[in-house]
Amino acid sequence: MSAAQGPQTPAQDNAAAPPVLVEIENGIAWVTLNRPNKRNAMSPALNQMMLDTLEALEEDDSCKVVVITGAGESFSAGMDLKEYFRETDGKPASQRYKVYRAAGTWQWRKLRFYPKPTIAMVNGWCFGGAFTPLVACDLAIAADTAQFGLSEINWGIIPAGNVTKAVQNVMNHRDALYYIMTGKTFTGTKAAAMGLVNEAVPLAELREHTRALALELAGKNPVVLRQAKHAFKNIAIMDWDTADDYLMAKQEQGRFQDPERGREQGIKQFLDDKTYKPGLGAYKRGE
Ligand code: COA
Repeated sequence: MSAAQGPQTPAQDNAAAPPVLVEIENGIAWVTLNRPNKRNAMSPALNQMMLDTLEALEEDDSCKVVVITGAGESFSAGMDLKEYFRETDGKPASQRYKVYRAAGTWQWRKLRFYPKPTIAMVNGWCFGGAFTPLVACDLAIAADTAQFGLSEINWGIIPAGNVTKAVQNVMNHRDALYYIMTGKTFTGTKAAAMGLVNEAVPLAELREHTRALALELAGKNPVVLRQAKHAFKNIAIMDWDTADDYLMAKQEQGRFQDPERGREQGIKQFLDDKTYKPGLGAYKRGE
């Protein structure tokens, strides 16, 4: 499937249905994990298709923002216990690691430093391995009724697949260990209160709410947006001196790479034209 395809058929779940659907609308690429009857559990086929989809959208100029969500009543029930674990258990390590690598490649390696803004729209069940792409997306909005769980402890493993690293990135020590060690579920409202997602809204408003946020991001200078999110993620492991130097260099790089010269536009429209106030809104693009 080409990510550049137009709107596709609504979510479906039969043997012939693709495990990922893409619909591009006004610059927003709605990417839907599409195995609703399996609660969008992430199989090797789904992982490969997500990788191909993200690759294609990266080069697709009609896509300004990526939203990842799930078909039916689930965001994703995590890794597919049958196809990802049981069916690969007996395989040689080289084959198993190839399957594992494909999952990690889209779920965090690619997503964390994706060149376009990404939003996870959590519409329902979100378990285990699904936390990795959830956290790797820049922003996340959940239905207040969505159910989250670090269920690994419940079936005898630790949260690998970089799930533990992901939750450590956004949850505090006590909350993360509580849910890692108990495997209890929590709601979208609780996820927002803990900072795992940006906010929780009623399910009926989830898509509209996410669309408004995505359109806001789609209207920003894409070069500066990319620089800003990459800088934020990269400085996490730097000391203050290194971060200061890196941010200055990144800023210079951004000015060099920005074809619309946003910084100069912003300063001119404020100081000379007096057409806007940077504290209260964005400069007019395309001036
Ligand atoms: N891997 C493989 N298959 C899964 C799955 C997973 N992670 N999650 C759900 N499914 C399958 C079920 O086996 C079932 O398949 P079947 O119809 O062929 O029997 C189907 O999806 C529906 O699941 P079911 O459990 O009947 O749905 P439910 O709505 O009653 O419960 C969940 C939903 C998400 C609570 C439950 O499916 C569940 O606990 N899934 C596992 C969650 C998990 O621990 N994931 C962590 C993986 S890292």
